[in-house]
Amino acid sequence: MPDACVKLDYTLACADAVGPHGLAPSDFDSDALARIYDQARRVAPQWGFTQLPARLDSADALVGLGDTLAKECDDFVVIGIGGSALGNITLHASLNPPSYNLASREARGDRPRIHVPDNVDPVLIASLLDTLVPERTCVNVIAKSGSTAETLANFLVVRALLEQGVGAGWTDHVVFTTDPEKGALRALGRELGIRMLEVPPNVGGRFSVLSPVGLLSASVEGIEVKALLQGAQAMLERCQCADWRANPAFFNAVLHYLFDVRKGVRMNVMMPYAQSLREIADWFRQLWAESLGKCVDRSGQPIECGLTPIKALGATDQHSQVQLYVEGPPDKFTTFLHVDQFPVTTTITPAFKDEAAFAYLGGRTLNELLHAEEKATRAALAKAGRPSVTISLPAVNAYYLGQLLFMFELQTAYAGELYNIDAFDQPGVEQGKIFTYALMGRDGYADARRELEGMQLSNPQCVIA
Ligand code: PA5
Repeated sequence: MPDACVKLDYTLACADAVGPHGLAPSDFDSDALARIYDQARRVAPQWGFTQLPARLDSADALVGLGDTLAKECDDFVVIGIGGSALGNITLHASLNPPSYNLASREARGDRPRIHVPDNVDPVLIASLLDTLVPERTCVNVIAKSGSTAETLANFLVVRALLEQGVGAGWTDHVVFTTDPEKGALRALGRELGIRMLEVPPNVGGRFSVLSPVGLLSASVEGIEVKALLQGAQAMLERCQCADWRANPAFFNAVLHYLFDVRKGVRMNVMMPYAQSLREIADWFRQLWAESLGKCVDRSGQPIECGLTPIKALGATDQHSQVQLYVEGPPDKFTTFLHVDQFPVTTTITPAFKDEAAFAYLGGRTLNELLHAEEKATRAALAKAGRPSVTISLPAVNAYYLGQLLFMFELQTAYAGELYNIDAFDQPGVEQGKIFTYALMGRDGYADARRELEGMQLSNPQCVIA
């Protein structure tokens, strides 16, 4: 494996570079941070997701199953939502060309198309069903709880299509990924003899991308899942250092924490300058929001904790969001994702050399232009006194992606330690799930139904004349 690694550059987060909105050395209480870091190092081995990179043996079995499923189908559909879908989308978008599903099977390395419809929008699902041939479709239903309404509903819809096409053999087209013991999906899978994978009980949905949740669909599409895990392991080892300043995940958590508590900066923009990393900002948005948005700390004291993650994309959002970031309220801290080496180089074909607007572009590359755009945005923000940090990847491949995803997972868990909150629960999400069950008439939710009736919620009325 290459020695190079994901790097963190925080120069433009410092007051020296950006003025009063940046952090000064006096903002860092090193003794307190060192104490929290020591505590975090003690508990980190118990965080379930930190045990995943070492599970290279289980990767072999996943790759084997992935290769088998790849032969069995032309369309592989992942049915899940939240942490049971976003990691799959991220791996797929980061490590495959954008035209993957449009390419021929041969161009896809003799592998199926991949679909992750993470919504119950009727149009989305109907239009997917229109394209599926049951005999050549396989479905991975992912729900740790085994009961999420969106996932079970989409499963029922797709199952009916499979049954219509292949009869009782529909069960051979399905793999469940769920809790090893609990939940309706596990029970149904046992009853029907469906192939099943386990979500480790101590790994929550948003931390599960490197478990069978994310790795089965990755294996089906031929992603090097071992390299992903090796990258994550390299980051884990790097983050076991004794000095908190040398741990990029902890250091980045500290920057975000200090911008919040010292500067009132609670908007965290993530802006990749690579189309392939666009979905990482979406995956991170869930990881950060669900983990850190909490109303009580660990001792039960009220705390309005929460950093709002915002996803952006360079250069696209320079023409959409950057005006706000540069001149709007100084309440944002931006993380740029930089890629040194793209897999292709696209030269800008020279023409119209007498026109200044065209002349300087001809013969240069889109790679150079995108890098220049990124540097220009960083500079424009810094000039306006707005802080940022840049995370660099030597290239986008499975090994570096494993490092990056794992760094963000650690960073999020460390942020939980800094705020002294439980980063691993999600009571706000659970409440919404309970109200959905009540509204849809699920048995056992009469109390929630009564509570909703008391809230006198009306159906939204159309007010646009
Ligand atoms: O991170 C989480 O725990 C959540 O976002 C869950 O992944 C999401 O609610 C889906 O849950 P489940 O996998 O039980 O269907």
